[in-house]
Amino acid sequence: MSCTQLCDTPERYGLVSRLLHWGMALVLLWQFTSVIIHTLFEKTGIDKFFWGTHKSVGSLLMVLILLRVLWALANLRKRPPAVSKWSITGHVVLYILMFAIPVIALIRQYGSGKAFSPFGIPLMPGFDETDKIEWMIDLGSNFHGLLGWTLLAAALGHAAAVLWHYLRGDRYVLERMK
Ligand code: HEM
Ligand code: HEM
Repeated sequence: MSCTQLCDTPERYGLVSRLLHWGMALVLLWQFTSVIIHTLFEKTGIDKFFWGTHKSVGSLLMVLILLRVLWALANLRKRPPAVSKWSITGHVVLYILMFAIPVIALIRQYGSGKAFSPFGIPLMPGFDETDKIEWMIDLGSNFHGLLGWTLLAAALGHAAAVLWHYLRGDRYVLERMK
C-alpha cells in the first residue's frame, strides 16, 4: 500500500488517520461506558466487568494518542484545511484532553506505589506503599475525573458540530473523515 492511501491529502484524511480517529472513538466509547456504569451501578456484576477494564483500556488509549499526535504532526501540512478557527481550537482541545487524562492517571498510579500491569504487561513494579507520593495522588484525584467528564462533553460537542455542518449542506466535512 502506498502513501497515497495511507497518508493524508488536502482532499481527505488517509487510512491511518481514519483508523486512529474511528478506532479511538470506539475505545473511548468503551471507556466512558465503564465510568458511567461504575457511577450508576457500582458493585454490580456488570460494573465489576467493565470497571475491571478501565485502567488497561485507559493505558491503551495513552499509547494510541501518542501514535496519533506523531501521525498528525507528520501529516500536518498535507491534511484537509480546517473548516474554521473554531474547529482548529476544538481539535487542539480534544488532543490536549486525550493526552492529559491518561498521563495524570498514570502519574497517580505510579505515586500510589502499587504495582501496575495493564493487560498483564508489567509497567510499574511498585514500591513500599508507605512511601507513596502525595502530590501525584492529589493531581490524579483533583483532575483525572474532572478532565475525563470534560472530554466526554467536548467529544459530544464535536460530534454535534459535525452533524450541524452535515445538515446545513457542508457534507465534505464528514466525507473526508469517512
Ligand atoms: C483516555 C483515557 C481515560 C479516560 C477518558 C478516563 C475517564 C475517567 C473518568 C471520566 C473518571 C471519573 C469517574 C467519576 O467521576 O467517578 C475516571 C475515573 C478513574 N480512572 Fe480513568 N480514564 C482514562 C484513563 C485511565 C487510566 C490510564 C487509569 C489508570 C491507570 C485510570 C484510572 C481511573 C481511576 C482509578 C478512577 C477512579 C478515581 C477517580 O475518579 O479519579 N483512568 N476515569
Ligand atoms: C460520532 C462521533 C464522531 C464523529 C461523527 C466525528 C467526525 C469527525 C469528522 C467529520 C472530522 C473531520 C473534521 C474536519 O475535517 O474538519 C473529525 C475530526 C476529528 N475528530 Fe471526530 N468524530 C467523532 C468522534 C470523535 C471523538 C470521540 C474524538 C475524540 C475525543 C474525536 C476527535 C477528533 C479530532 C481530534 C479530529 C481532528 C482530526 C484528527 O486529528 O483526527 N472525534 N471528526
